[in-house]
Amino acid sequence: MLEISAKLEEALHRAFLKVFPTDNRSSKTSSILTSSSLVPASKPEFGDFQINCALALAKEIKQSPRDIAQQIVDQLKNDDDFLKICNPPSIAGPGFINLSINSTTLISEIHIRLNDKRLGVPLKEFSNKKIEEKRNHNRVIIDFSSPNIAKEMHVGHLRSTIIGDCLARVLEFCGYEVLRINHVGDWGTQFGMLITHLKEVVPEALHTKDAVEISDLVNFYRQAKKRFDEDQIFQNKSRSEVVNLQAGNQESLLAWQLLCNQSRKEFQKIYDRLDIKLTERGESFYNKFLVDVINDLKNKNLLINDQGAQCIFLDGLVGKDGKPQPIIIQKSDGGFNYTTTDLAAIKYRLTNPPHGDGAFRLIYVTDAGQASHFSAVFQIAKLADWIPTNCQIEHVPFGLVQGEDGKKLKTRSGETIRLVDLLDEAIQRAKVDLKARLNTENRFEKDSFIDTVSTTVGIAAIKYADLSQNRISNYQFSFDKMLSLQGNTAPYLLYALVRIAGISRKGGDLNVSSKKIQFNEDQEWALIRKLLQLDSVISEVERELLPSRLCAYLFELSQIFNRFYDQVPILKAGEPAKTSRLALCSITAGTLKLGMNLLGIPTLERM
Ligand code: ARG
Repeated sequence: MLEISAKLEEALHRAFLKVFPTDNRSSKTSSILTSSSLVPASKPEFGDFQINCALALAKEIKQSPRDIAQQIVDQLKNDDDFLKICNPPSIAGPGFINLSINSTTLISEIHIRLNDKRLGVPLKEFSNKKIEEKRNHNRVIIDFSSPNIAKEMHVGHLRSTIIGDCLARVLEFCGYEVLRINHVGDWGTQFGMLITHLKEVVPEALHTKDAVEISDLVNFYRQAKKRFDEDQIFQNKSRSEVVNLQAGNQESLLAWQLLCNQSRKEFQKIYDRLDIKLTERGESFYNKFLVDVINDLKNKNLLINDQGAQCIFLDGLVGKDGKPQPIIIQKSDGGFNYTTTDLAAIKYRLTNPPHGDGAFRLIYVTDAGQASHFSAVFQIAKLADWIPTNCQIEHVPFGLVQGEDGKKLKTRSGETIRLVDLLDEAIQRAKVDLKARLNTENRFEKDSFIDTVSTTVGIAAIKYADLSQNRISNYQFSFDKMLSLQGNTAPYLLYALVRIAGISRKGGDLNVSSKKIQFNEDQEWALIRKLLQLDSVISEVERELLPSRLCAYLFELSQIFNRFYDQVPILKAGEPAKTSRLALCSITAGTLKLGMNLLGIPTLERM
């Protein structure tokens, strides 16, 4: 409906010109008029769109809102281009103008979608002027997942992975070239203790050609940390190991590689199960740019020496003690930190190739706890003039994952939950539910069917539960809720698709392409209107980066489809109703599949 609403918007502004000639407008009137736009109708019975400006104008031009609305409506009723799309508008309440798209337009939009793989969603076109320029305006970087080497990937990383992947899919679908960057924590002082521990407990690791497996890297990290905290000699060795590593000592680098590879393998298992594609470019990648960052900031007079450390003081940033709080860019021992690395990363990502990525939009998906870090980093990048005009840089924060008790998610015995176990449990529970349902339905299915369905449903449930929440709020993890066939859940959406696949199995031909279609029932019109909203929903997600909007849309679509399916005969209807309804089934299936695909959720024909 994006194109249609744009056309209506134009008609509205033509009407404004007639009713309020520009030479006669007060500045207030002008500003009300220029900012006036169509808003989606608050209830389906009001039509498709509403125009609410009459109320705001009434005060300014001292006429009743109904009179103003009437004059606008009179103009619209005389506008042929408007009437091609819309029924004659009506006025409701104190002076709202209600618009409803006429059936000819709705039907022709449905026709278009029947023959369009993109279901009416426009593909962004980028100017082909100069390759450099083009690169700058279609390339987006999404920095997501980004766990830390040798540490457990936790539920926060899971959220980042699921949300980041969904945003990447949506932006890719819109036509952007998306770099999916895994900014893993693969550098820092913790490697001193890890390498020291490695050299002592698996010395052979560094001297054989075969890769040595450290079966439990997380436990390995814990042991190293324990020794570091308790043993002074070990601590000293670890410190000099950091120096070795930074100086490029071969053996230290080998040990570091080994630890990274080991971790990488573990992370990859999760990514494979979730069907996530990422390009790893960890913190270590930016090492060679860190000195440049310092020099650049120094040259721009942004650095202040505070007790030996190179710092930036940002306006308004104060610590708990009320004193200005420094952002440390280089520690007093000369070392760099998380902030320095992120500054180098911004610079690199915004610099045009061959010296950088040349992206125009940078998106960082992490928990809300890092909001102040990113806010500081972005401010510094602005002060340093690294953000070209037309480039956007944004933090996409999300809330905590909590257990059903509202506390941090833990196992029954109080330990942090491993992601693999979380996925396994969702699949296991989906299997139990499925078997129970098959039993009550007296269905027999092969084991392979049961395995595929429960794996798909389990993973889908985890992803969807996460994506369907407004990401900013904390989210309560509940297997029971996410696996339920009722409510805003993955199984509910998957089931709507299964119903449509069932229609086709019963002989309904969903390949309706250009046949005559005709509609009479309210349930049909409601479904059509919902189907036509897909393009606006996607463009909203593209702008606001809220996957929950797409989820809410798919949920509403499924509800409206289910009402249609339950109340209107499809296969038993005569023609042209049957073909017309099959056309709606086909577009609904296409829309749900596309939507789920953008969420990163595979679909099923039967479940
Ligand atoms: N490794 C970090 C963590 O686990 C997340 C990194 C996010 N990305 C970034 N560019 N800082 O918290």
